[in-house]
Amino acid sequence: MSDKHKVTIDGITVEVEAGTSILNAARQIGGDIVPPAMCYYSKLEGSGGKCRTCLVQVSKGSEKDPRPMPKLVASCRTTVMDGMEVKNITSPEVVEARKGVVEMLLLNHPLDCPVCDQAGECHLQDLGYEHGRAKTRYEFDRRTFEKVDLGDKIQLHMTRCILCYRCVFTADQITNTRLHGVLNRGDHSEISTYISKAIDNDFSGNVIDVCPVGALTDKTFRFKNRVWFTKPVQAHRDCDHEKCNGKVTLWYKGEEVIRVTARKDQYGEVEEFICNTCRFDKKQTSDWVIEAPTKISNKSVISSNHYDTMKPLPVVKTNPQLLEANKEQFERDTRL
Ligand code: SF4
Ligand code: FES
Repeated sequence: MSDKHKVTIDGITVEVEAGTSILNAARQIGGDIVPPAMCYYSKLEGSGGKCRTCLVQVSKGSEKDPRPMPKLVASCRTTVMDGMEVKNITSPEVVEARKGVVEMLLLNHPLDCPVCDQAGECHLQDLGYEHGRAKTRYEFDRRTFEKVDLGDKIQLHMTRCILCYRCVFTADQITNTRLHGVLNRGDHSEISTYISKAIDNDFSGNVIDVCPVGALTDKTFRFKNRVWFTKPVQAHRDCDHEKCNGKVTLWYKGEEVIRVTARKDQYGEVEEFICNTCRFDKKQTSDWVIEAPTKISNKSVISSNHYDTMKPLPVVKTNPQLLEANKEQFERDTRL
């Protein structure tokens, strides 16, 4: 039996390894048809399936069984079948459902972007702009929590947490000392403050990078600057920690390094996790070998005023017939 499967997403066919998720098949095509993902993280085993932002419509199950799937499915958790056909941005139903998911994620998430350190690199903010409704129908007060200091370098602001579990998986898989998780259920769920026990580990700072919103922030950077006023630069050092390759992004304000993060790819995921020494203790230019300005997607607000932007993601032409068939409703649903 062939271990390759052909899957068609928004009219574009790609051949992928059996066992690949629809989301990763879409990432192999690239461009606008890639579903957003708030909880899936390719470097973290078991992640995904929590936020539902990656919903897609499977209009044909497979060559063998062409029946469509009765409900929208999470593309990060659904594997492709040979001959499968999937609709993402060509499905008005998906576009509508995604708006609902964003609305739900924002029910309890404060709209404090003007004072949040994550603004400009927050996936929920981007999602809100791209898929959100202009209004919420929610009439109740948002739930709030006290901020919790996780040692002197990390702060947990649970009020902003969307319970994606990425930090839990990071502590579990990267630091090997997970002593936190999600406590309680439903509206009462929260990241347990036992997360503070994981901070003694050399890799604990990575929870900041994986958090898609501003719930876990770097205290050494908090309120120092808006990220779009900084200049990111690729740099490396000879780190003696065996699991850290010392490759980072330095964020400059003038001559000063105000933040060090892991390097991130086009989906906002870290390329490789870095140790706390590189992240928190090496803030002098002399600590680093500077490589080049960081390439920033020109879709990102961080790219404004910057000197080196990434080539735009390839704009994928979606199947004109599919688009035509859905045009009227699609236009109505995608209007802001
Ligand atoms: S703190 Fe951030 S990474 Fe952790 S579950 Fe909440 S949103 Fe996700
Ligand atoms: S990214 Fe698929 S459910 Fe969250």
